[in-house]
Amino acid sequence: MIQAVPELAPGLDGCVETAFVLKYAALSAGYQGGFPRRPIPGSSHPPGRSHSLESFTLSESSRLEALTDQLGRGIRDLRISVTDRCNFRCPYCMPIETYGENYEFLAKPELLTFEEIERLTRLFVAHGVEKLRITGGEPLLRRELPSLLERLVQIPGVEDLALTTNGYLLAAQAQTLRDAGLRRITVSLDSHDEETFKRMSGRTFGPQRVFEGIEAADACGLRPIKINCVVQRGVNDHQIVDLARRFKGTGHIVRFIEFMDVGTLNRWDMAQVVSAAEIRGRIEAEFPLDPVPPQYEGEVATRFEYRDGSGEIGIISSVSAPFCGACSRARLTIEGQLVTCLFASRGTDLRGPLRDGESDEALSQRIAEVWGNRRDRYSEERAGLLEVRGPDRAISKIEMYQVGG
Ligand SMILES: C[S@@+](CC[C@H](N)C(=O)[O-])C[C@H]1O[C@@H](n2cnc3c(N)ncnc32)[C@H](O)[C@@H]1O
Ligand code: SF4
Repeated sequence: MIQAVPELAPGLDGCVETAFVLKYAALSAGYQGGFPRRPIPGSSHPPGRSHSLESFTLSESSRLEALTDQLGRGIRDLRISVTDRCNFRCPYCMPIETYGENYEFLAKPELLTFEEIERLTRLFVAHGVEKLRITGGEPLLRRELPSLLERLVQIPGVEDLALTTNGYLLAAQAQTLRDAGLRRITVSLDSHDEETFKRMSGRTFGPQRVFEGIEAADACGLRPIKINCVVQRGVNDHQIVDLARRFKGTGHIVRFIEFMDVGTLNRWDMAQVVSAAEIRGRIEAEFPLDPVPPQYEGEVATRFEYRDGSGEIGIISSVSAPFCGACSRARLTIEGQLVTCLFASRGTDLRGPLRDGESDEALSQRIAEVWGNRRDRYSEERAGLLEVRGPDRAISKIEMYQVGG
């Protein structure tokens, strides 16, 4: 059903999908070509609808009618990036050749302040967001992060507050984060092996501090801990089973992630992707697994439990079995860009209007407009794009450390 149209046109949503326009006849009934900006349709135009904002006042923390995008997807999750800096240099995310000592990260005035993050988050929550995830760069590098968590957890309507970290600074901060209101934590750990860890973190130290971070988080009740492992063929794929074994029976959930073509700098190559099916097969050969139904619609990881009852793993198959159809995630970058797809080439600036004094109502309308016009589904289109033009690194895509995963 995919009809490729060789027409270069950056889309409203900034997704590479729309940089090389593909028409999806089945999904885009009524699509006339191009991406016309149109006013946010009223409720008579679902999907892509939003509630009238006339009666909205931030102080009431009102819930507006939930937004839906052009493909009928709601907005439920907001990933908030709190820094563009990181103390690791994972080659698949921030390769040292690019992010060396002289790399200039954003200056402080360019970063959203905690007040600004809170204000924007309230607007997202009013539109239906329930789950927040703090990310980066490395979020634990952001000074006074607990005070931001305290602000966010108090927003009426926020049902979940989680954080993704590389774990290096976690042991010292776990209790403070917990006290500030953090409920769940994901720790990235690509290998338990000293040398492979060094290679995948781009650093000269091994995983010991990350293990200590996981223990500290466990001790202060941030359970169950999710452990994210990006699998790269020829780099750490031979250790998948060992990593699973290491956490089997601990209550922590290892989630194996297919290496994704986020950004343009990580030299992504399909040949380095180990598919979810292969990951499952390798683990199952050692430890029999049974599928577990998803806990909620749009859950990113496919879940499995060990047949012997000793715990659970997850596999994230965004390359081999994409799940754009239920994607309810918005991303707020540290520069205040609203990004609606992990693979987008650009976002929509909210910081400028916010600092220019725009009202909550007007900012809220912007958010509604972006989400209402959203139609990106890059992962599902990836195969077609690669077939037509190959992994074109010249296409601009936001880097992973800028949108936080
Ligand atoms: C960008 S990091 C930000 C938070 C923190 N620095 C960390 O590493 O957990 C968020 C997640 O994205 C994952 N990630 C980064 N680049 C990736 C890629 N190319 N493919 C798959 N996952 C990736 C990381 O492994 C990490 O689990
Ligand atoms: S994946 Fe996380 S830890 Fe690794 S370089 Fe990217 S932001 Fe840093």
